[in-house]
Amino acid sequence: MNIHASIQDLREALLPHRRAGRRIGLVPTMGNLHRGHLALVEAARAQCDVVVTSIFVNPLQFGPNEDLDNYPRTLDDDLTKLREGGCDLVFTPTPALMYPRGMANQTLVQVPEVSEGLCGGSRPGHFDGVSTVVNMLFNIVQPDVACFGEKDYQQLAVIRRMVQDLHLPIDILGVPTVREASGLALSSRNGYLSDEQRATAARLQGTLAELRTALEAGADIDTQLHQGLESLRRAGFEPDYLELRALDLSNVTATTHDAILLAAARLGTTRLIDNLALTLAR
Ligand code: PAJ
Repeated sequence: MNIHASIQDLREALLPHRRAGRRIGLVPTMGNLHRGHLALVEAARAQCDVVVTSIFVNPLQFGPNEDLDNYPRTLDDDLTKLREGGCDLVFTPTPALMYPRGMANQTLVQVPEVSEGLCGGSRPGHFDGVSTVVNMLFNIVQPDVACFGEKDYQQLAVIRRMVQDLHLPIDILGVPTVREASGLALSSRNGYLSDEQRATAARLQGTLAELRTALEAGADIDTQLHQGLESLRRAGFEPDYLELRALDLSNVTATTHDAILLAAARLGTTRLIDNLALTLAR
């Protein structure tokens, strides 16, 4: 496995593969890798001849009061996991390499509609940072396939929309969320949780599962969402949002069948997100 800190080096390493017609897969990450990230590497491996993982804690997608400085950086461990996970090349740029003019002077990619509301509402500018950096990574690596987790459902929708709108010749592969036995979705931010908070954290998925059962049986949506918020608060969360949307994140209408529950909630200072797809009784 080769590690490349420069764009030029990475491009040179990829050139012979591209010339040989090999299929290149990209897994963008911010590092502190867990089994969720490795499932993305595995999915890329299954579809591609060459797998590139990027590790970059992207300052452009963090708000001023967010955890950029504390975000866990564990490069040595990450490289060991990627080696064992079958990754071929790793791209490890610095903020100075990605944003040589500084973030304030960076050209941005802004994806309308799907970036608004949900996490886009509670984290203003977040998805502009995500779509911009992912577009840059796409231009640097020029992958045939790129893998993203369904855990970050809105992010996946933003990337799919960007690829459509900009006519990028890249297949976007969504990978199911990897969870702990408790139901808690694996996340780099779980490391911030105390043991007690970790036990509570599983209630996020638990609450969504209870709502799914009720909604699939035909219960009233607004009542269920209200009760869901209450039960999250009772468990000790401070919810940012709990919403039901159609799978493309448009609003649910009288004819929507397939839908998705999406939630973000804070436990102490740690912000967790999760989602759960369901079929509405109609
Ligand atoms: P990061 O949080 O490191 O996540 C990298 C990828 O791993 C994302 O596609 C995310 O959805 C996926 N992922 C995280 N936890 C997962 C889980 N439990 N199961 C399955 N997939 C999971 O998301 C980002 O980084 C950044 O926003 C990025 C796309 C790299 C742009 O900076």
